[in-house]
Amino acid sequence: MEYLSTADIREKYLSFFEAKGCKRMPSSSLIPDDPSLLLTSAGMVQFKPYFLQQKHLEAPYVGTTTVQKCVRTNDIDIIGTTGRHLSFFEMLGNFSFGDYFKEEMCAWAYELSTEVLGLPAERLYFTVYLDDDETIEIWKKLGVPDDHISRLGEEDNFWRAGPTGPCGPCSEIYFDQGEQYGCGSPDCAPGCDCDRFLEYWNLVFTQYDGQEDGTLAPLPKKNIDTGMGLERMAAIMQGVQTNYETDVLRSLVAVGERLCGVVYGAAPESDLSLRIMADHSRSVAFMIADGILPSNEGRGYVLRRLLRRAVMKGHLLGLDKPFLNEYVDEIVRLMGQVYPEIIDNRELAGRVILSEEERFGATLRQGRAFLDEALSGLEGTTLPGEQAFTLHDTYGFPVEVTREMCEERGIEVDVDGFTRCMDQQKARARAASKDADKAWSTYGGIMNDILEETGATEFVGYTKNEAEVRVVGLARCGKRVEALVAGESGELVVDVTPFYAEKGGQVGDIGVFTNAEATARVTNTQEPEKGLIAHDITVENGRIAVGDELHAVIDAPRRARICRNHTATHILHWALRQVLGDHVKQAGSFVSENRLRFDFTHFEATTPEQVAEVERLANEKIMENHAARAYETSLASAREAGVMALFGEKYGEFVRVLDLEGFSQELCGGTHVSATSEIGFVKITSESSVGANLRRVEAVTSFDALAYMNRVESELKETAEELRVPLFDVSERTALNLKSLKEMQTKLKRNKQVGAEDRIAEVASLAVAAKEGYAIIIANVGEADAGGLRNAWDVLRARTPELGAVVLAARKDDAPILLAAGTPEAVEAGFNAGAVIKAIGSCIKGGGGGKAEMAQAGGKDASGIDAALEAAREMLL
Ligand code: ALA
Repeated sequence: MEYLSTADIREKYLSFFEAKGCKRMPSSSLIPDDPSLLLTSAGMVQFKPYFLQQKHLEAPYVGTTTVQKCVRTNDIDIIGTTGRHLSFFEMLGNFSFGDYFKEEMCAWAYELSTEVLGLPAERLYFTVYLDDDETIEIWKKLGVPDDHISRLGEEDNFWRAGPTGPCGPCSEIYFDQGEQYGCGSPDCAPGCDCDRFLEYWNLVFTQYDGQEDGTLAPLPKKNIDTGMGLERMAAIMQGVQTNYETDVLRSLVAVGERLCGVVYGAAPESDLSLRIMADHSRSVAFMIADGILPSNEGRGYVLRRLLRRAVMKGHLLGLDKPFLNEYVDEIVRLMGQVYPEIIDNRELAGRVILSEEERFGATLRQGRAFLDEALSGLEGTTLPGEQAFTLHDTYGFPVEVTREMCEERGIEVDVDGFTRCMDQQKARARAASKDADKAWSTYGGIMNDILEETGATEFVGYTKNEAEVRVVGLARCGKRVEALVAGESGELVVDVTPFYAEKGGQVGDIGVFTNAEATARVTNTQEPEKGLIAHDITVENGRIAVGDELHAVIDAPRRARICRNHTATHILHWALRQVLGDHVKQAGSFVSENRLRFDFTHFEATTPEQVAEVERLANEKIMENHAARAYETSLASAREAGVMALFGEKYGEFVRVLDLEGFSQELCGGTHVSATSEIGFVKITSESSVGANLRRVEAVTSFDALAYMNRVESELKETAEELRVPLFDVSERTALNLKSLKEMQTKLKRNKQVGAEDRIAEVASLAVAAKEGYAIIIANVGEADAGGLRNAWDVLRARTPELGAVVLAARKDDAPILLAAGTPEAVEAGFNAGAVIKAIGSCIKGGGGGKAEMAQAGGKDASGIDAALEAAREMLL
C-alpha cells in the first residue's frame, strides 16, 4: 500500500464520488439545524430533510459527498484507551436520496477500497444486517469470498442517528490489521472489541423513518448514507496501529510531548493523557469556532466537560498554566485550510479557552486538594457520593472526571449517591421556585380542569386592547367558585382576552373587566397551563359569575411602555452581536413597563467603549425608524429564512416572528411597537457579569430613559452647585479637590508627628540632669505607646548630643509603659536599662525587661507612673 496523508485520502474520496456524479458539499456546523440532536455526529445530519423528501437535490447530481466534522461523546470513557475512538473526527460520506442504491454503492465501495486506495482484497471483511441476503449476494458477486462475509444484529448493523428519524440496516467494511493486534480468542472476528479488525466504512441503506413510538415507517424512497472514518483510514494507509500515530493527530500528540516533557510511548498513563489532550483539543477548537461557549447545559456542557478533561490530563502531567491554546495553534496550522472557520475564529477561541482554563485552573487546584484529603481519610475503596457532589458543586469537577481521577488510584465513586445528591439539589431548587410562585401552584389542578372543559383562551391582544368576553371559570383560595363578589380576590378565566399573560420575559398585563353591574380590577395575568390565560382580579363592586358577559380593557398606556421595552431588547440583542460578535446569544430577559433586562452569553468583561457603542447603534436603529412587523409562520419556513431562534427552546409548528425591517428577525411571542422610533430613546443603565460566560445589560426607554437622565442630571447639578463650578467642570474640580485633600492630609500627618516630637522634647528637656560623664532624662511624656516611646528616645538623642540615657514613662489609654535606654558610652559608665526597669516596674504593677542598652515594661496601674520615675531618680541621680 502506498503511504497517503490525511489530506490525500480526503481528496481521493471526495473526487472519486464527484466522478460518480455526487455533488461535493461543505461540512455543516457542529450545531445541527435539528432540535432532536445536540451535536452533529455524522455526515447525514445535514441531509435529513433530503431523506425525508422535504428538500431535493437538483439534476444532474445523483447524490452528495462531504467530509463532515463530527463530535461524539457517547464513548468518551474509552477515548484514548483504544486507538480508534475519538471525540472529534472527520467523516467522509456520500449520500443518495432515492437515486443509486445498494448495488452501485457496494461496487463503488469495493472499487474505492481496492483500486483507489489499494487495500489488499484478502484483508477486507464485510458484515451485513441479519437477514439482508441481498447485500450478501452483491458482495459475493464482487468477488468477496464467503468466509469474509458475516451477519451481525441490530446493535452493529442497524444504524440510527438518534431515537427518531431516518435509519436503516447497514453493511460495514473492516480491515484486518493483522493477528498480532488481535485478542487471540478463537471467536475473534469483525465486530470484536479488539484492535485486529478495524471498521472503516459504514454503508447505511436508509429506508425507514423512526417514529416516536419506536416503530419504523418506510421512507418514500430508498437512500444511501455512508460514513468512512478519515482518521481510521489514515491509520491504515500510513501503516500505523492507532489513530494517534497518523500525521495530524501525531502532530498534536507532539504538542503535549513538548509542553510536558514526556515521550509518547514511555508509559501507558502518560500516553493516555497525551492522547486525550490531542483528541479533546480538536473538539474544543472546532466547537468554539462554530459558536458554542462553555456552559452548564446542553452542548455548552459537552464543550466544558471536554475542555476540563483535557486540562485535568495536562495537570496530571505537571502543567499548571493554561496550555490548550498551544494545541489550537497547531490545529489551525494542520486543518485551517479545510476548515477556514477555525482560522476566522482563532482569536475568539483563544480568549474563550484562556478564560475557561484560568477559571478552572484555580478551582482545579483547590478541588485536587479536597480530593486528596478525602482520599487520604478514606476507609474502604469507594468515594462517597456526597464528596463527589461537593467536587461537582463547589469545584466544578464533572463526576466523570472525579471518577477517572479516583480510578487512577483504584478507588470507585458512589455514582448512585452522587445522583441522589444532584436530585436533592434539583428538588430544592424546584421548591424554591415554587415558593416564589406559591399562589399559582395551588391552582395547578383547577386550571387544568378549566382548560379541559373550555379549551384554550383566545388571545386577541396582539391587535386589540379591548374585547367583549364571557366568563368561563372562576377560582378563589385554591377552589373553583361560581361567583366573586365585591371585595373578593381570585382568578378569572374568559373565552377571549386582550390581556397578555406573563411569558418569554414579558410581564403580564393589568387593566379592568366591567359590565353594567360590576367592576373587577386585574392586577396580573399569567398562563398557569399552556394555552390557558388566567387573570388575577379583585372585584371592586357588584358580582361576577361564570357565564357573565364582560368588557375587558387592558391598561393600554402601560402596555405601550412594555412594547417599547420589548422591542428595545431585540434591538440591543442585535447591537450586542454587532459589537461583541455573533457568539452572543440571548440567555434570558425581563421586560416590564419601566425597565428591561437582557442576559446574554459572552466570555469576558466588556469595555465601557463597547457598551457605549452598543447604545449608540441601538439608538441609531431607533432613530432610523424601521418598521416592526410581527407575523405568524411555520417553524420550517422561519428557519429557512434564517430567523434567530432561542437556543434550547421548544417551539410549536407555528411560530411568531418579529421582523425589524432590514436588521433583525427573531422568533418571539411578545408584544411590540410598530415602528422603532416609538421607543424614543434607549439608555443602558448597567452592564455586568451574572455568571460564567453570562452577562446582563439593563436599560430604560422612552419616558423612563428621560426620567433616568433627569435624575442623573439633577444629581450632577446639585454637585456642581455644592462645588460652585459649571456643570461640565464637576469631574475635573472633584479630582482637584480630592488631590488637595490628600495633600492636606499628608501635611497634617507630618505636622502632627513633628508636633508630638516637639512636645516630647519640650517635656523632656526640662528634665535633663547630669550624671557622671553623661546627661540623663527622667520624664513622663504623656500619651504614647511603646513605639512612640522608642521614637522619643531617638528624637531626644538626635536633639541633645550630650544625652547618654533616658527613663521615660507614658500611657496609652489606661495602660502605663516604661522605657529605659542608654548609649554604649552610658552603659560603659555603669547605666543598665534592664536593671532600672526591673527595679521600677513594680510601681506600675507590671513587668518587663531587656538588655543594658534598652528595656521596657508595661503595667496595669497608671497611677504608679510618678512613683516609678521617682524611684528611678533615686536609683540613678
Ligand atoms: N451515518 C452512518 C454513520 O455515522 C454512516 O456511521
